Amino acid sequence: MDADGTQQAPEQQEYSSVCVGTEEDLKRRERMTAVVHDREVVIFYHGGEYHAMDIRCYHSGGPLHLGEIEDFDGRACIVCPWHKYKITLATGEGLYQSINPRDPAAKPKWCSKGVKQRIHTVTVDRGNVYVTLSKEPFKCDSDFYATGDFKVIRSSS
Ligand code: FES
Repeated sequence: MDADGTQQAPEQQEYSSVCVGTEEDLKRRERMTAVVHDREVVIFYHGGEYHAMDIRCYHSGGPLHLGEIEDFDGRACIVCPWHKYKITLATGEGLYQSINPRDPAAKPKWCSKGVKQRIHTVTVDRGNVYVTLSKEPFKCDSDFYATGDFKVIRSSS
């Protein structure tokens, strides 16, 4: 069943929105985890915005729901608790600092590796929070830990 109460065709159900909790609860806790169509996700409420992403870090499967949120280069990131990789909440980009080794006066600057963590869509309707899985067709590194043998959970929500 979709957020508006309509039934989805079977081939579309994988991408239908799923209620993961209440807006009030998410705002109070600032993060929650959920299983959406057999995919484990973490949902954040940060800076007045909602974000959802695959729960396992693209690097080596670390638990992002246990990480701290910090700003880097003006962008809110979840910092993976295992090896401290920084992932932007809004886009799923992996951020890193680079420096020109031939320039001793150079300061490190923040760069993007591109989208590494799959981001999902969060909507709020009548006090409930819904997540719709990304159907972007590109291969995202975090897919490795969200599907197949390395997937941690195996049951549907
Ligand atoms: Fe997340 Fe290594 S598993 S930084």
